[in-house]
Amino acid sequence: MMTKKLIAFYSKADENYVSGTLKILTVGNTEVAAHMIEELTGGDVFRIEQVTPYSKGYNDCTAEAKADQQQNARPELKYYPDSIDDYDVIYLGYPNYWSTMPMAVFTFLEHFDFSGKIIKPFCTHEGSGMGCSVSDIKKLCPNAIVEKGLAIHGSRISKSKKEIESWVK
Ligand SMILES: Cc1cc2nc3c(=O)[nH]c(=O)nc-3n(C[C@H](O)[C@H](O)[C@H](O)COP(=O)(O)O)c2cc1C
Repeated sequence: MMTKKLIAFYSKADENYVSGTLKILTVGNTEVAAHMIEELTGGDVFRIEQVTPYSKGYNDCTAEAKADQQQNARPELKYYPDSIDDYDVIYLGYPNYWSTMPMAVFTFLEHFDFSGKIIKPFCTHEGSGMGCSVSDIKKLCPNAIVEKGLAIHGSRISKSKKEIESWVK
């Protein structure tokens, strides 16, 4: 039987901090990675999107994201996949926000029962790697099989196809 794969990701374009300078990204780093994984796996793609997005500007966005994290908020999502029952493997992508996932990803993980499913986390970051995101995923999805994560430096995303390919295999 073919295993069915879902690539669920959170990513934010607009202003971001890349290797020491502020830059405007038209496509977020994690989204670039998600589409590489789509090409490699043929999986379905789902974007995790909050109803009230964070500000486009980097400084405002980091402040808002930090406040949400400190309050352990669960930002409301715009939509969900109807069901994840058919998926065996979930590639879960997100930027590192203050050493873990954006809180909207917490909302997403709490919405479904991931028991018995394989979660493969991938994270883009500016130096902190996966942070504590993997242990947070394990807490939110205690009965999932959380495999080794892949951390990619955001500024090197366009050059990381090979690395992603060997992680996917
Ligand atoms: C709100 C916010 C918080 C961040 N916190 C961290 C952090 O704690 N550690 C880190 O290495 N990078 C941090 N970054 C950088 C992002 O993880 C990095 O730029 C990532 O590639 C952005 O992914 P995206 O373009 O898919 O949104 C942060 C960025 C934002 C906007």
